[in-house]
Amino acid sequence: MSLRFTSFIEYEEDDVEYNKICDEHKHLLETLPKGSGWSIQHLYNYNGFWIDEMLLKAILLLDTYFKSEPTDIVLASFMKSGTTWLKTLMFSTLNRDRYSFSNHFLHNNHPLSTIPFLGMKSYPMTDSTTFSAPRLFITHFARTLLPACMSSCKFVYVCRDPKDVLVSKWHFMCKLRSKDLTPLSFDEAFELFCLGVSEFGPFWEHVLSYWRASLESPDKILFLRYEELKKQPEVVVRKLADFMGKPITMEEEKKGVVWEIINLCSFENLRNLEVNKKGVEKLGNFEVEKQSFFRKGEIGDWKNYLSEEMKDRIDGITKQKFQGSGLIGFNE
Ligand code: A3P
Repeated sequence: MSLRFTSFIEYEEDDVEYNKICDEHKHLLETLPKGSGWSIQHLYNYNGFWIDEMLLKAILLLDTYFKSEPTDIVLASFMKSGTTWLKTLMFSTLNRDRYSFSNHFLHNNHPLSTIPFLGMKSYPMTDSTTFSAPRLFITHFARTLLPACMSSCKFVYVCRDPKDVLVSKWHFMCKLRSKDLTPLSFDEAFELFCLGVSEFGPFWEHVLSYWRASLESPDKILFLRYEELKKQPEVVVRKLADFMGKPITMEEEKKGVVWEIINLCSFENLRNLEVNKKGVEKLGNFEVEKQSFFRKGEIGDWKNYLSEEMKDRIDGITKQKFQGSGLIGFNE
């Protein structure tokens, strides 16, 4: 079955509320501070974060129309922090009774078809559990940009060393970058990233928005790191299962279910599946090659791109921004 929907927000394009949103959107585009986009020309600074025109509209629509449910679980991340990996782990952990590991949904469907992005235009969702509780969603929006009604939802947040995020993001955005613009050099991307001018950024404020929320409500936000997932995936999968309310049973432990999940969602396995190798998927207004979600999948690829001076600058910003927050950096 192939289902189409627009991320659980329903509206009539001629209703009064929708027209108000369009007017507000237009007004904001004229008045908000502008910065350079990585894939398109302009980003807008909305309540401290840089987003494009389409995402700004999505936030306004979510604010008015999204009806959260207390059972909702949202995977949140700054883009290129390991969202694809986490989404496959969450999806296969939650649905482990529904699919056999030898003939799994993920063998024939790209990870984009598993969990919908909140507020983004639809792409085909081929798994019908999307509609039943607990509903899973993904967002790249900072915690403070999300509608107030979502304070009852649970969040899994994944963060990653900003140096690796920068490199990963530069590669990805160069592929999406409009052909009408001059190519974005790595040096330009580095400078913009450090200034915080980067889709969904600044990176550091994004991480802190979820970190602070996790301190306030530790039972509602599971705060993870890409690096810990790389080093101890089995620990993280068990944590995910507990957090999503479906702990791994003793019997499942004996059967090796945790490692079945890890192997299914491993970089090597997913990257080599035919369904993830060829073709394009629609992501908002962009067409993305399916394989571009699987580049290297390593810790420390930044060493191939950043000079010693660039490394020190990013580490310095991280140290300064995280100071006093209780959040440790990525080199400690
Ligand atoms: P690199 O570009 O450093 O290789 P996101 O999913 O948030 O867009 O993040 C993309 C990054 O996660 C890319 O990093 C990608 O290669 C990596 N990635 C994707 N799937 C992965 C997996 N199963 N295991 C580890 N890393 C993965």
